Amino acid sequence: MIDFHQLPKVELDFMNTEHQEAVDIYNKIERDYLLHDVDSVINGILDIQEHCISHFAHEEQVMKNNCYPPLQVHKEAHDRVLMEIDMVVKQLKNHRDLSKIAHYIERGFPNWFSQHLNTMDKMAAEFISGQKLRKVG
Ligand SMILES: [Fe+2]
Repeated sequence: MIDFHQLPKVELDFMNTEHQEAVDIYNKIERDYLLHDVDSVINGILDIQEHCISHFAHEEQVMKNNCYPPLQVHKEAHDRVLMEIDMVVKQLKNHRDLSKIAHYIERGFPNWFSQHLNTMDKMAAEFISGQKLRKVG
């Protein structure tokens, strides 16, 4: 289980809200995974895929609007995760074997998530909230 309160908070509220939503979806996937419920895991991964697509697009749009210099590097990290999730969906749909994606569910996604929040998301949110303050001032 990912505990949202243990995760780093960033300086933009919309990001924290959407990260909380991702945590809720992930925790449901993990529960279904522990129950060996393949169909529910597939549906959950499709949900997190949809969530990540719109959440990443949202972050990228805000970074673009604020001329955030490392946008491209950040976007590449998002694109890699979307590719991984896509592979997990294909793997599960083709083989319906949870053991083949165990590593991704147990460690891959949660580790990536907390690391990404702690590094790229934190930096981007700090930069953008600084820009907003400068504009107001
Ligand atoms: Fe991000």
